[in-house]
Amino acid sequence: MQILDGKATSKAIKEEIAVEVEKRKAAGLKTPHLAAVLVGDDGASQTYVNSKVRACERCGFKSTLVKRDGSCTEEELLEIVDQLNNDDDIDGFIVQLPLPKHINEQKVLEAVKREKDVDGFHPENVGRMALNLPTFLPATPYGIMQMLERYEVPTQGKHAVVIGRSHIVGSPMSILLSRNGYPGNCTVTITHSRTTNLEELTREADILIVALGRPEFVKADMVKEGAVIVDVGITRVEAPETEKGYVIKGDVAFDEVAPKSSFITPVPGGVGPMTIASLLKNTLQAAGDKPA
Ligand code: GUN
Repeated sequence: MQILDGKATSKAIKEEIAVEVEKRKAAGLKTPHLAAVLVGDDGASQTYVNSKVRACERCGFKSTLVKRDGSCTEEELLEIVDQLNNDDDIDGFIVQLPLPKHINEQKVLEAVKREKDVDGFHPENVGRMALNLPTFLPATPYGIMQMLERYEVPTQGKHAVVIGRSHIVGSPMSILLSRNGYPGNCTVTITHSRTTNLEELTREADILIVALGRPEFVKADMVKEGAVIVDVGITRVEAPETEKGYVIKGDVAFDEVAPKSSFITPVPGGVGPMTIASLLKNTLQAAGDKPA
């Protein structure tokens, strides 16, 4: 069993990006600039956005954080998106999800200029991904693909089972793993809350991607010996005895599943850090060869 160490892999990627940024500056190219928009006071979202901004600074990027409280209207948010679309110094930006209920998420995502959509959530970019055209890949699936690649995990001809059909993880993951390339060329089954024979399917999986947000849902008897396990879950579970008052749990019961696996991502320190590294890669791509 080998741990797919997202912390170490993302550190290596961020170091490569930092070198690239220095080279760009020396060559008279623009410093990449990422903006993040955070609406409301969701604790987990605040943590993610702060990590994204800190990672930018460490890699020599510029970063801008636009924060609004939960009373921000859809119109105000669309105005912010419009300003970021038209700000020539901003190469890429993200609107952190979930948004408050009174805001139409899809409308906001569609308002983001395609060339600055470093989350890859705009319908046109989703379409480009499905067609294998150059685009921005959504950060979490992109991070998983990079981890599979760097650890040279065999994927061709394998049966990949994805649990979860979200637009952020499950759905794009199923598309990327079925594409003709490496990592990819898998036979993919996508499962969700209405799947009736889930355990039968997970036991058939050579590669199991778990993204449903239910702590320790996948147990040892649900996985095949030698399977590759990618755990996308990050749920805060109350733990009054800890300093923070919570612990982070993945969707996989790691201690019992790990001994059966060939490769497995831990939580924390697996997929999470890769997501941030991927966002930075997308922002670097967005900056392209724009002059300083
Ligand atoms: N919320 C959970 N994951 C993501 C992500 O990758 N991007 C954004 N914008 N919001 C998220």
